This record gives sequence, C-alpha cells and structure tokens, in this order.
Amino acid sequence: MNTPLVAAKNLHKSFYTDHLEVPAIRGLDFELSAGEFATLVGPSGSGKTTLLNLIGGLDVPTGGELQVLGNNLPRLTREQRAELRLRSLGFVFQAYNLVPVLTVRENVEFILELQGAGADRFAHAQQVLETLGLADLAKRFPKELSGGQQQRVAVARAIASNPRLVLADEPTANLDHANAEVLMQLMRRLHDERGMTFLFSTHDPRVMQHATRIITLSDGKITDEKSN
Ligand SMILES: Nc1ncnc2c1ncn2[C@@H]1O[C@H](COP(=O)(O)OP(=O)(O)OP(=O)(O)O)[C@@H](O)[C@H]1O
Ligand SMILES: [Mg+2]
Repeated sequence: MNTPLVAAKNLHKSFYTDHLEVPAIRGLDFELSAGEFATLVGPSGSGKTTLLNLIGGLDVPTGGELQVLGNNLPRLTREQRAELRLRSLGFVFQAYNLVPVLTVRENVEFILELQGAGADRFAHAQQVLETLGLADLAKRFPKELSGGQQQRVAVARAIASNPRLVLADEPTANLDHANAEVLMQLMRRLHDERGMTFLFSTHDPRVMQHATRIITLSDGKITDEKSN
C-alpha cells in the first residue's frame, strides 16, 4: 500500500476575529500521494492559502484529522512542526521571501545550515544552483535579480535538501507569463526527474495546465477535481 503523503479528513479551520468565527476550511477531505504535481484553484477566499498553511504546519486545524508525512499534525508541538518543515518540506511563497542581506548562494546555504549540514554546504548550494541553471547569479543579492530570477532562487532554496513535499502558494503570482512558464517548467522538471511531490495554488489557467491534478476549492471545501 502506498500511504498518502497528506491525508485530511473532515478538516476544519476557523479564524476568530472580534469574536466572530470566519470558517476558512469547512469539512475538507483530501489525499495527496507521493509523486503528484497537483494544484489548488478556486476563487479568492476559498481557502487555498489556509489549506497550504495547515499542511505545512504553519497553522493548526480547529477540527478534523490531518496526517502529513506520517505525522498526526494536530498532535505535534510547535517545535515538532518546525522540525517537520525544516527536514521534510519545501516552501515557495508568492513574494519570493529571500533574505535580502544574503547572496543567492548564501540564501540556499542558510537553509542547509539550519538543517545541520556540515562544511560541504557551500559546495552543495553551488551544485543546486548549477543544476537549476542559476550558478551565474550565485554572488548577487536578491535586489539585483528580476522577479523571475528571485522566484527561481526561491525554488532552489526550497528543494536544496530534497524535501519529500514542496508547497507553493501562488508561486507565479508576481511573474509575467514568460517567467511563470520558466518557473513552472523548473518545478515540473524537478518533479519529472526526481519524483518530487508538489502542491501549489494558482489563479492562472495557463499555470494550472502544468499540473497533473487540478483541485478546486470553494468556501473551504473541495468542489471539483480533475486529472490533466
Ligand atoms: N489570519 C486570518 N484571520 C482571519 N481570517 C482569515 C485569516 N486568514 C484567512 N482568513 C479568511 O479565511 C478565508 C480563506 O482565506 P485564504 O487566504 O485561505 O483564501 P485563498 O483561497 O488563499 O484566497 P486568495 O486566492 O485571495 O489568496 C477567507 O475568508 C479569509 O478572509
Ligand atoms: Mg491565498
């Protein structure tokens, strides 16, 4: 049996602001298997970011079950969730989120250092950048890069330690079409060549077409699903 990387059952997440309940995820059932290249789509406010944050352990559910890489997520402590993120998950956000005072290579090295990599992390970071065709940018600072380049570096950083699952929240939202295409091809290549599992959200129909599975959210539930 191939156990899924992610399994959610009757998942709920509500936010409370001014004592009002804002239900963001409302009884969602979801499974993601190893090797998928899946996308979450749906209108603004449908719960895409909330779901990615729950799966990534950045936030905790208010109800239901959530297993991520064999961990019962609601049972983990904050430290255990941080450990899971660091060891086994890769994140790519909409706004690049590179460390501005570090060069491109240092941004990649930094994550490897947090993960406890030894002296070889310099070479490892350089190798990751080379594999992704980013070696020429290694010594630049984020502000010296285009948006597309920054986002490719963000992907390099996310995959540097071979995470089992990469989560990406609208990774192409700040990119023009040409750069969005390059980014999707990069992610797709990592999937095809290394079997890395990706779950990303998007509003862009052209970006959706790269996914092997398209999951539609509405009002915090999955309302449609199709394979590509
Ligand atoms: N921190 C928060 N506090 C209160 N409400 C929140 C919070 N985060 C999200 N929400 C609410 O939860 C619902 C789902 O939001 P979410 O950000 O997950 O949607 P989304 O599908 O990612 O939207 P978008 O496409 O605009 O990014 C919305 O009603 C939103 O207002
Ligand atoms: Mg969002």
